[in-house]
Amino acid sequence: MSKNADPPRYIAVVMDGNGRWAKQRGLKRTQGHEAGAESVRRIVRAASELAIRELTLYAFSTENWSRSRTEVKFLMGLLERQLVEQREEIMEQNVSFSAIGNLSKLPAGVRRELAKTTEMSRRNTGLHARLALSYGGRPEILDAIARLCAENRPRRKITEKQFRKYLYDPAMHDPDLLIRTGGEKRISNFLLWQVSYTELYFTDVLWPDFGKADLEAAIEDYKKRERRFGGL
Ligand code: FPP
Repeated sequence: MSKNADPPRYIAVVMDGNGRWAKQRGLKRTQGHEAGAESVRRIVRAASELAIRELTLYAFSTENWSRSRTEVKFLMGLLERQLVEQREEIMEQNVSFSAIGNLSKLPAGVRRELAKTTEMSRRNTGLHARLALSYGGRPEILDAIARLCAENRPRRKITEKQFRKYLYDPAMHDPDLLIRTGGEKRISNFLLWQVSYTELYFTDVLWPDFGKADLEAAIEDYKKRERRFGGL
């Protein structure tokens, strides 16, 4: 008998479908993003309740900078407001918060609120919730290589374990489960190094509709899988 997987400790999510959700309702794309932000709030709470240890949400990719100036500006404003509004709940739920990505590209107001929430929640011992912002998996790997090269390490000292220390968050584990909402079946440059053996779960549910029951369904699906990490 093969052994099913234990519940996932770390879930990563590509939150897709805000625009289509809005379009279906005759609303503006920005209203889709607002509904998406509510979904973020719900899923952080649900993940805490379900005893997930780490959750990384792909909120803004390096490629997203090429969206219209108004949409980018709206998303940055929304992010800044949400960081302020969700701070109390983050503390209440004992969530420790941080962000990964090329954060220096973000507007000063967003960086300020990110730093505040990160600092304030640093000692919390519950779920570690991360936002991937101005994030790309290839840039993360290239940044790591650049820092590694600067140190002139001999090849034999460059192991997978060492390399991990040069990624944006050395404390991050590999996700057990990657969920993508919105029907597309792609990784889209998310956590490329870290997802080598991650179980993938794709759902047609659009991100603003994704709730606790959907998260539980993904976890149930995951638990039926047998993880062999390339072994037998
Ligand atoms: C994908 O939908 C979503 C994004 C690019 C942005 C994600 C942002 C949020 C969920 C809200 C941000 C708030 C917080 C608190 C992180 P899409 O626009 O690509 O949808 P589409 O594929 O249907 O057009």
